Amino acid sequence: MTAVREPVVSVILDPSWATGHLIEDVRRGLASHPRTLPPKWLYDDRGSDLFDQITRLPEYYPTEAERALLAAHADEIVRLSGADTVVELGSGTSDKTRTLLDAFSAGGRLRRFVPVDVSEATLRAAAHELAARYPGLLVEAVVGGFTLHLGHLPAGGRKVVAFLGGTIGNLYTEERGAFLGALADSLDVGDWLLLGTDLVKDSDRLIAAYNDSQGVTAEFVTNSLHVVNRELGADFDVDSFSYVPFWDPHMERMDLRVRAEMPQHVTIPGAGVTFDLASGEEIRVEISTKFRPDGLRDELAAAGFVVHHLWRDDDFALTLARLEASGA
Ligand code: SAH
Ligand code: TRP
Repeated sequence: MTAVREPVVSVILDPSWATGHLIEDVRRGLASHPRTLPPKWLYDDRGSDLFDQITRLPEYYPTEAERALLAAHADEIVRLSGADTVVELGSGTSDKTRTLLDAFSAGGRLRRFVPVDVSEATLRAAAHELAARYPGLLVEAVVGGFTLHLGHLPAGGRKVVAFLGGTIGNLYTEERGAFLGALADSLDVGDWLLLGTDLVKDSDRLIAAYNDSQGVTAEFVTNSLHVVNRELGADFDVDSFSYVPFWDPHMERMDLRVRAEMPQHVTIPGAGVTFDLASGEEIRVEISTKFRPDGLRDELAAAGFVVHHLWRDDDFALTLARLEASGA
């Protein structure tokens, strides 16, 4: 019998992250065109719970598509990578990751699992569940950002960094490049990236995935206005907003917005911001970029990651790439 090890949870987010960064993001975002809100505010406790419901909606195909790809290829990922450490960025409940961890622990070499997420309660719950499920596994959870806090990943060992759920598509093109570069800097040559990405497809299927018939996604997106009201004392009249998801064919991304159905004067005391929203004016809450395999290969190569496998179905791709020595 191997003893269950208590997970170690490090909180890297300092209190000012919750205020300082977000205040800046709110100021800048609401002054830009279109107005935007920081997407991190989607994932307070209520938002994390709603997202978990989204993953079980019939219209939201990415979760099951990715789960099937993980199940089909987990053994190969274990064998190819020879990793003893699995890092997961934006891990949430780490539900699908169990498929991978099962294969790794059957392989006998897994020592450490490092889930990283900004949503502290969800992360803590997942860390405890995983520590109990895999006796002997060292679970070192990091409450932190996957862009800002990559320097806090543990050193040593052979790593696979899983970044699942199509979350990389929630970054803008420039942010993706910066993220992949910073990730490469934080890893050793020979470490691996396991990346889940949603693929470009028929816009009707995409719109349905982001506009489910039960209204869970609409509630998830408008919840971010509640978060600004709560955290910064704002007075968004949340019920007067509708949810407008649309496909942007030029950028090949879903653009997820809320629209003021009535003109309103908004005050955000915590950010020192006031502004008028015209009737019909929109605020972007999130983008979700969709990919093509060739573009993905190029973006990864630009950061030094060489694709060894790209497994896909009609909807979704799972890419296993290795960090190679840079030519410089
Ligand atoms: N990996 C899971 C969850 C995806 S949802 C899946 O595939 O289903 C995106 C997750 O990323 C949420 O848990 C959210 O809290 C987290 N997240 C969002 N922005 C983040 C950031 N900047 N840094 C770290 N985690 C972030
Ligand atoms: N990473 C998920 C995605 O882009 C996040 C997500 C799912 C999401 N549904 C959403 C974000 C609805 C905003 C709105 O698919």
